[in-house]
Amino acid sequence: MSEFIPVCEPYLAGREKEYVLECLETGWISSAGKYVKEFEENFASYCGTRYAVGVCNGTVALHLALTAMGIGMGHEVIIPNFTMIASAFAVCYTGAMPVFVDADKETWNIDVSKIEAKITSRTKAIMPVSIFGHPCQMDEINALAKKYNLFVLEDAAESHGAEYKGKRTGNLADISTFSFFANKNITTGEGGMVVTNDENLYKQALYFKNLCFPLEGPRNYLHNEIGFNYRMTNIHAAIGLAQMEKADEYKEMRISNAMLYRKYLKDVRGIRFQHTDSNVLHVHWMNTIVINPVEYGKTRDELMSYLKTKNIDTRLLFVGMHKQPALKNYGCETQESFPVTDWLTDNGFYLPSASNLKEKTIEFICNEIISFRGV
Ligand SMILES: Cc1ncc(COP(=O)(O)O)c(C=O)c1O
Repeated sequence: MSEFIPVCEPYLAGREKEYVLECLETGWISSAGKYVKEFEENFASYCGTRYAVGVCNGTVALHLALTAMGIGMGHEVIIPNFTMIASAFAVCYTGAMPVFVDADKETWNIDVSKIEAKITSRTKAIMPVSIFGHPCQMDEINALAKKYNLFVLEDAAESHGAEYKGKRTGNLADISTFSFFANKNITTGEGGMVVTNDENLYKQALYFKNLCFPLEGPRNYLHNEIGFNYRMTNIHAAIGLAQMEKADEYKEMRISNAMLYRKYLKDVRGIRFQHTDSNVLHVHWMNTIVINPVEYGKTRDELMSYLKTKNIDTRLLFVGMHKQPALKNYGCETQESFPVTDWLTDNGFYLPSASNLKEKTIEFICNEIISFRGV
């Protein structure tokens, strides 16, 4: 097999083209147009929430959610140290400080047992991230939030359709956000969503998303606060709606790919997968493995280079927030060590994970990993 295998690519197998063409033919290409509302309603119902607000990407979705909760200068938000940089940057946009908690060694999500020690009088919210599609242990997080009167914002950018104790992500916190970037299980190319059951947070999100135009009354072009233009276009929403029509099918494809990787690599020493807790439905956004060089006989970097020669695309994992120069400059310098994050960053990588991977492609990738091992 010499065809290039990308680490991920969008899967657009439904009515995406038909709906987008309709936008072009009717001229409804801005954020006005029926698809935005339809996509929002559809997505809210998929998550099991009352409200959804479409925005232009997952990063601004986080910023909007934080703004809706009134988070700003002088506040702290607890986030996982092992996450995509957008989780931390969104906190910085508000003027608040992100505070880091190391990952759990098994699920790679925020280590819930280490959150309480980070709560101070300035803490306003906890932001768990459902890493690679695995929801966090939300009962414990919500209980802590209740005890200290904090908000919970779930960054569910990677976990469309995932479940914790039978409830979907999006419906596990005060407010949650999603990304629809091209590599996500549900995509609009670029796009995001804020979902909540709280009417007040919903209204705040709608208000700040659209330059703080008043939600009711005449448009007199007077603005009482500084708002943002985070609107989603009708074209993006059209793609999103088509994706939602096949959301469960796409989710099953990702889960099935993850099971195949586990099946073909199960006897290979020195390869570790993300653990799945028994009370969650993990949607396996990306297939990630961590290499133990002693047991596997080669390092992670050697394996990635080898796979490249076989036309198999891979990616490094996130670098911990504690090592980010931008965050250090912002004032997040810390002497604390984050061993689980560092272990993941130094030894882990993504394998090809597109929804429409064929079993024979996964088998080929796994056979290459098996044949390259050094012990
Ligand atoms: C955990 C997490 N949060 C936020 C984002 C930001 O989403 P976007 O790329 O749509 O801005 C991503 C994107 O991959 C992510 O993985």
